[in-house]
Amino acid sequence: MKSQFVRLLLAAALSTGAFVGAVGAADEPAPAEKSEPAAAEKKADGAPEAAPAAPAADAAAGGAPMKPIDRVEKTEKGKLKNPFDYKDPKIAEEGHKIYMGLSCNGCHGGGGGGGMCPPLTNETWVYGGDDDTLFRLITLGSQELQKHGYARKGQEGVVGPMPPYRDLIDDETKLWKAIAWIRTVWKGREEKKVW
Ligand code: HEC
Repeated sequence: MKSQFVRLLLAAALSTGAFVGAVGAADEPAPAEKSEPAAAEKKADGAPEAAPAAPAADAAAGGAPMKPIDRVEKTEKGKLKNPFDYKDPKIAEEGHKIYMGLSCNGCHGGGGGGGMCPPLTNETWVYGGDDDTLFRLITLGSQELQKHGYARKGQEGVVGPMPPYRDLIDDETKLWKAIAWIRTVWKGREEKKVW
């Protein structure tokens, strides 16, 4: 039963490329630094391309959007906050597309109701349901998350590792939008809301 679950998990992860992304992630240098000189050179050349930053993300996150892993490393524990409003249907819709595009549905179901993996719709949050914890959990994966001082608090019916998405999401605004969508499918009581 358990090994069957692990096999299913692996199959799903491999099909999303999540585990492939995880392998070797630890020893790769942070790509942000590598790309900076190139960007600077471009500017010096007078290249007119200035990427417009999403103002909402910009304001809340302080600076241009970066890779989720860079944001995680730069931000103190407990301080990450979604700059997007999940009540905005446009944001939620975009978030759902991102969620499907990243194959999160392979494990959590298209509506977030779970399946092989924990539902995102119920009141139980394994490590906590606040923005900070979810952003880090998805970026680092559940095993790495626990090395950063986040502990298992809740127990869902299905237990298994959540793969890291650190190398699969290039822009933190995408992850925030996916989390915004997750808020819209949650069916818990108002007093249990921690975001
Ligand atoms: C290979 C299967 C798999 C994929 C793909 C996957 N997850 Fe997970 N996810 C899990 C597992 C397993 C857990 C529970 C981890 C634990 O118990 O430590 C989890 C936990 C979570 C949680 C916390 C749920 C709770 O009840 O506390 C969230 C939120 C989440 N995943 C979001 C996502 C998002 C967003 C994506 C896509 C970017 C994604 N997951 C992709 C397997 C997966």
